[in-house]
Amino acid sequence: MNNQYSSMRSNVNMLGTLLGDAIKRATGNETFDLVEKIRQLSKSAQQGNKQAHNELLKLIENLNNQDLLHVARAFNQFLNLVNTAAEYYGISPHGEASSSPKKMTELFKSLKSLNFAPQTIKQAIDNLSIELVLTAHPTEINRRTMINTYTAINSCLSQLDHNDLADYEKERIMRRLKQLVCQAWYTDEIRKKRPTPLDEAKWGFSVIEDSLWEGVPLFLREFNDQLVDAFNEELSVEHVPVKFTSWMGGDRDGNPNVTAKVTARVMLQARLKAIELFLADIQILVRELSMTECSQSVIDLLDEQNKAASEPYRAVMKQLRSRLTKTHSYIVALLNNEQVLAPNDLLIKNEQLWTPLYTCYESLIENGMSTIAHGPLLDTLRRIKSFGLQLVRLDIRQDSSVHTEALDALTKELNLGSYAAWSEEEKQQFLLTELQSNRPLLPYNWQPDEMVQEVLDTCRVIKKAGEESIASYVISMAKAPSDILAVYLLLKIVDCQKNIPVVPLFETLEDLNNAKSVMQKLLDIPWYREKINGKQMVMIGYSDSAKDAGTLAASWAQYRSQEELVNLFEQYNINLVLFHGRGGSIGRGGAPAHAALLSQPPGSLKGGLRVTEQGEMIRFKLGLPEVALSSLMLYASAILQANLLPPPEPKQVWRDIMDEMSDYSCQCYRSYIREKAEFVDYFRAVTPETELGRLPLGSRPQKRRTGGGIESLRAIPWIFAWTQNRLMVPSWLGAGSALRLVINEGKKEQLRDMYHNWPFFNARLGMLEMVYAKAAPNIHEYYEQRLVSPTLWPLGEELRNLLTNDINTVLTITDDISLMADLPWIAESVALRNTYIEPLNLLQAELLSRSRQNTDDDENTIVEQGLMITISGIAAGMRNSG
Ligand code: PGA
Repeated sequence: MNNQYSSMRSNVNMLGTLLGDAIKRATGNETFDLVEKIRQLSKSAQQGNKQAHNELLKLIENLNNQDLLHVARAFNQFLNLVNTAAEYYGISPHGEASSSPKKMTELFKSLKSLNFAPQTIKQAIDNLSIELVLTAHPTEINRRTMINTYTAINSCLSQLDHNDLADYEKERIMRRLKQLVCQAWYTDEIRKKRPTPLDEAKWGFSVIEDSLWEGVPLFLREFNDQLVDAFNEELSVEHVPVKFTSWMGGDRDGNPNVTAKVTARVMLQARLKAIELFLADIQILVRELSMTECSQSVIDLLDEQNKAASEPYRAVMKQLRSRLTKTHSYIVALLNNEQVLAPNDLLIKNEQLWTPLYTCYESLIENGMSTIAHGPLLDTLRRIKSFGLQLVRLDIRQDSSVHTEALDALTKELNLGSYAAWSEEEKQQFLLTELQSNRPLLPYNWQPDEMVQEVLDTCRVIKKAGEESIASYVISMAKAPSDILAVYLLLKIVDCQKNIPVVPLFETLEDLNNAKSVMQKLLDIPWYREKINGKQMVMIGYSDSAKDAGTLAASWAQYRSQEELVNLFEQYNINLVLFHGRGGSIGRGGAPAHAALLSQPPGSLKGGLRVTEQGEMIRFKLGLPEVALSSLMLYASAILQANLLPPPEPKQVWRDIMDEMSDYSCQCYRSYIREKAEFVDYFRAVTPETELGRLPLGSRPQKRRTGGGIESLRAIPWIFAWTQNRLMVPSWLGAGSALRLVINEGKKEQLRDMYHNWPFFNARLGMLEMVYAKAAPNIHEYYEQRLVSPTLWPLGEELRNLLTNDINTVLTITDDISLMADLPWIAESVALRNTYIEPLNLLQAELLSRSRQNTDDDENTIVEQGLMITISGIAAGMRNSG
């Protein structure tokens, strides 16, 4: 055991014992003994004991359904406790997260030693912008109830981590821990109902309320302190380089449950939550700002009857409190569909909140009370800049084909022909003519079908939304200039005067390769250039491109398209923000934040960072204030580093090798996924893909359309399914074969050069190693034997052999004897979980087999429940599930 992690291991043992006690009390010694036996056998099996492995398999096959359920619950809960201990370890003084601020310190040190001009550094900090987009992607497997319990456990671990606790204090904390572990055991860990988009949005609000509201000011204080220490520079109060946007209730791509009505309601609920949070802030300021000396500007803020107030700051706060309260009542009335008149002093714009508070802030400083100004008042000011009265801005997202259908219905209604059938040139011509025409286009009294109506209603919601409520309109599966112009026209049709950014999302290999040409065509249109007014956002889709072409080819296409776009926009002197649509897991473009940012092409972060954060990753990266502080420090330091000390431009020879490997890996990947006739049947049998659809994870259906093969399946269930059976095919298939190809051509030394000197390639191999470390071919083989017809076994064997060869190939390039030799923390955390995931995998294969054969309804309910718990437990163990 690595001593560095002993504190985490002892917490894991302590929580495990508490769980064991809870199980004993709830179900009796027999169940507990069974769980313990399985745990011991799994441990020996992990250490290579074949006999223990066989005994374990036999034991599981012979268990009755009820026992399978108990054991699945025990291991699932245990893995969640391991995660909690690991999360606490991360933020504890010994952990990884606590070292994030050091990354900034180190960066500032190197900038100083490289004699960077203060002006250059200041410029980089002024330009720093981090926008995290919380999406509604259905990958968070844990219920909020369970998440809250684990958060409370985390807080107990933190309280226990003090050497000077009195015995009675320790006993109190242990008693609480016992209760919490017990609460978890008696709670149903699987959601019974699918969340609605509004539930999802509220979940997002709770992340802001419970973590970010505190975490953002914490981050800004830490960042400011480091700036002062290193350069004697203060972060200006107005400059809050971190913002949040949400897709929860705004992303309607493939989700018919997100309607225009829902979007409007979500925005209203967000405003309500923001008012509540600011009310709590102002209440603190009412209590604390009892100072008497102030500048005239503060007196000027006061209503006539308050001008002579002896405590002027407090009087300003009370005025604000009253406005917030009235605004609150008004929004509640709107949510209740009551007909009410808006009060005169309704708070709508952020500056209405900012101005009085900032005036007080300045006055406190002018009157020698800067210590007080820099207290809670400063935090509230920064929250106004970061969250504002809208709490979080919404992105609207829809698939390009839906817009095409809407315009098609319109042109047919107007007897102009079929828009969908026109060539790209014809479409553009029509769109540009209409965009520049003053004539209304919408037929009088038109009653289009429901889908078209929804598109128009959504545009109307955007039209009516508050200035700062909508961040952008993202077009999934964007392919051609007309896809972007179409959205502008739809917005114009409803007379929307807002110029919101319309953002193409390029997300297949072909579309990434064409991204530059599509954007160039748009930029060559004078109307378009004028419309975007010097700013453009383009979204890069990581997961669908990986699903389309395999991870290696997709990541190279993402790299190249970003590079091309950066150069293109530089030529046109237009500000480009690249928006990264990354999933949490490696197969969907996930990667540790710092490494991911530093491996991007030079110049790609100049416009700032906009990136998606999804599902369980929101919890892992932003779920607690200290964790959010650490993640934001990581992001900030990586962006500054990438902009001030950009990664090297790849050598031509490296590019050539990447081109060659990309083509070959894509061919290899597609030769299995698309071309092997038996692949789809094999996939459906050997993974829990079908069963996953029954897990009520999110409001969105798991397929783009009913029927169809892999192409109709969304990227999330595709990756999720392969993660469950531990072969993780999409995350590695093709990459190793391509590496072998170039090694066989005698280019191994060049690959090593790339690995050591090119962050992009280094990160790629690092991600492959991480996937390999989580894969378990022997477990996959067991799934195959239990679930797949023997005629298909050769395909599985071929894939497993490929995986073994691939691992060896990567190790010969990195020159390591084991995987992730340079990432000890992740290696430790994978090893720690493996003993507990393996039994869950075996249980899952068994339950899948029973569920697929069973006809008895009562028994099926138990089997189904057990199955869902194994899915949840494996996801918890593998951390980034979808
Ligand atoms: P999407 O996202 O299916 O919503 O495009 C895919 C992903 O995040 O993996």
